Amino acid sequence: MDQQAKKIALRKIPHGVYVIGVVQDGRLNAFTGTWLTQVSFAPPLVAMGIRKDSHSLSMIRQAKVFSVNILGKDQKAIAEHFVKPATVIGEKLKDVPHHAGKTGSPLLDEAIAFVECEVREIANETGDHAVVIGEVIEAGVRKDEPALILMDTGWHYGG
Ligand SMILES: Cc1cc2nc3c(=O)[nH]c(=O)nc-3n(C[C@H](O)[C@H](O)[C@H](O)COP(=O)(O)O)c2cc1C
Repeated sequence: MDQQAKKIALRKIPHGVYVIGVVQDGRLNAFTGTWLTQVSFAPPLVAMGIRKDSHSLSMIRQAKVFSVNILGKDQKAIAEHFVKPATVIGEKLKDVPHHAGKTGSPLLDEAIAFVECEVREIANETGDHAVVIGEVIEAGVRKDEPALILMDTGWHYGG
């Protein structure tokens, strides 16, 4: 396979930019994620690729819930903040206004919309990211406007 073509082709798949919120035993964390898509209408399911070496995946494996905070076009700075791995769990959310949702997962006050999910399946033995399938059990919209997508940011994740 032409490795450069593989990289360029895969990077043409459009993705949004989200802050994924997680909670475990009252401890909160969040990270910037982009590999998310809807995979069922009924029940409403989303699938998310999550790094196997992230703090957040081990929290999701245990608590079996997560939130998806959808960012607006002018909120790249929020995404930038949540890219770094947690050094101390809870630290990343300290200066970002948030509250607990129905699942206990953190919801960012400034996000334009959110969904909260209960985990139904975790798959992908082969890959370096687990595929977490969550059922949407709560949703909210603060501003009905276009969402930030990866191509807006000039960043890449994929290839
Ligand atoms: C543009 C961008 C997109 C990202 N998308 C994902 C993603 O879809 N899934 C993922 O697991 N990590 C993704 N990451 C990496 C996480 O944000 C990063 O691993 C984070 O440090 C994990 O935090 P944690 O260890 O506190 O859970 C992305 C990073 C960037 C810069």
